Amino acid sequence: MKLFIDSGDVDEIREAQSMGAIDGVTTNPSLLAKAGRPTKDVITEICEIVDGPVSAEVIATDTQGILREGRELAKLHPNVVVKVPLIKDGLKAVRTFTDEGIKTNVTLCFSAPQALMAAKAGATYISPFVGRIDDIGGDGMELIGQICTIYDNYDLETEVLTASIRHPQHFLQAALIGSHVATVPFNVIVQLLQHPLTDKGLAKFLEDAKKIPQG
Ligand code: G3P
Repeated sequence: MKLFIDSGDVDEIREAQSMGAIDGVTTNPSLLAKAGRPTKDVITEICEIVDGPVSAEVIATDTQGILREGRELAKLHPNVVVKVPLIKDGLKAVRTFTDEGIKTNVTLCFSAPQALMAAKAGATYISPFVGRIDDIGGDGMELIGQICTIYDNYDLETEVLTASIRHPQHFLQAALIGSHVATVPFNVIVQLLQHPLTDKGLAKFLEDAKKIPQG
């Protein structure tokens, strides 16, 4: 499973990248608002840090506006993936982007029929938001299973990009189900590394190392 970082913070993206496990980046308007800089500047800088797909989201909600914004974003760097909301006008734009060779990430997916429609429009990635489904009492990971099954049934090429990940269990379940990608916030990436027995074991090794005679 590929690991993307879900962030608009170039410092944490740089830090995660230095761990050697980051395959790409996803952003959204909420994350970029926190960055407090123009979208184009941040996306260009991210593309210089991570050599992999970098999702940048359009703000327009009509097809012509989405196409205009998406083409501008795609010009920033060959690795830019245009992120498009899962609405009727969005899917019309996805079909055109696909025909033009521009990669897309269809976002705000909350059902398997939505995911099937996005794949039929030619989406490169589909982003189901598992945490937000859990927030309203649903089962986000069940949706990932449904989408993976449907895409497998029909050999659809769209990659399942599990998004809105809140904790390591989401990441683990996504990998077990066979999600192609998980996009994970920096704090959860750090949690993926943590285990109390690792800390305890390391403390013991360091303590015992002091007893080794110096040559
Ligand atoms: O980038 C999309 C998604 O990962 C957002 O997550 O935590 O705002 O639901 P969240």
